[in-house]
Amino acid sequence: MKQLPENMIYPENALILAPLSGYTDVAYRRAARRCGCRFCFTEMVDCSSLVYASDRSALMLRRDDDEDFLGVQLVGAIPEHLAIAAEKLNDRDFSLLDLNLGCPVPKVWNKGAGAALGRNPELALRCFEALAEKSRFPLTAKLRIVHAQDPAPTVDLVTKLVERGARAITIHGRTREMFYTGEVNFEIIRAVREAVPGTPVIANGGIVSPETAREMREKTGCSRLMLAQGAMGNPWLFGRIDGTGDDPGLEAWKALVRSHICDMISLYGEESAMRCARKIVHDYLKGRGFPSCLRAQASALAALKDLDDLLDIAKPAVSRSPSGRSIIDPAD
Ligand SMILES: Cc1cc2nc3c(=O)[nH]c(=O)nc-3n(C[C@H](O)[C@H](O)[C@H](O)COP(=O)(O)O)c2cc1C
Repeated sequence: MKQLPENMIYPENALILAPLSGYTDVAYRRAARRCGCRFCFTEMVDCSSLVYASDRSALMLRRDDDEDFLGVQLVGAIPEHLAIAAEKLNDRDFSLLDLNLGCPVPKVWNKGAGAALGRNPELALRCFEALAEKSRFPLTAKLRIVHAQDPAPTVDLVTKLVERGARAITIHGRTREMFYTGEVNFEIIRAVREAVPGTPVIANGGIVSPETAREMREKTGCSRLMLAQGAMGNPWLFGRIDGTGDDPGLEAWKALVRSHICDMISLYGEESAMRCARKIVHDYLKGRGFPSCLRAQASALAALKDLDDLLDIAKPAVSRSPSGRSIIDPAD
């Protein structure tokens, strides 16, 4: 990786694959890397599961030898648990440790963690300080805008996180109530960036195409972007945004889908992997003009053979879909 100025975690114009719970495992990140993505995260890991040493969290923390950059993300709202989790992570190798202040799901929110922590600055800062005290990794935070119109509470929290050593801030321009849809507030992301001029601010939310990436950069002034739903089943988006790649041809699409699912089988075994593969294959099919019978087939995947049958007959009915995802040459 090119030498970055001291204290700089991501270079200008970096495109980062978001932490995605239930998705960004080793197999998912390999697929992204095959399409040129250089900055990835683990799924969020509950700090309490590290405290009580669950097997699932060990799998979530795995890192490939050729992963140059991997951020790990913790979620939790008990400073003592976060501190213990941070110490345990010190035995492994990560590029940074991120605190989740944005997760909206009730299971997390009801424990006062994720987005609820973003609304409780005093506790949020204590949690961050607990990590800062124990972790050997650079610390970052990912949060949502706190208020839909007023930038002040978001800017205030970010400023205090940076004062306590946050080396980068990712800001999702939607409130907790919006979950993952609806218009992104560019103005508050811009206000955050302007409030912490020496710290990289990564803009997140609604980036699904080179056009929406450009709009995000223009309206927020942030060159660094984090991609989430736009890249799900669509890792080619990284190359399309930075100009190094394009949508896949049919054979390239099939090869990537197959290698992704085979990697999942190596990780989890065939039975468990194929259950999980259903949603992954759905995402790969989405918006590319494939006939709907393939979606039904994806929902029933139970063995690698079923995937091979699906791929054998996969052919998009239309070549350019309105969603902007496409198969370049359906006659490939
Ligand atoms: C299925 C799913 C899982 C997610 N898991 C996480 C997570 O583990 N940690 C996190 O910080 N955000 C998580 N997010 C939020 C995304 O990282 C991102 O902030 C959000 O989807 C907005 O970006 P987008 O509009 O480009 O999708 C998740 C989102 C989705 C849809």
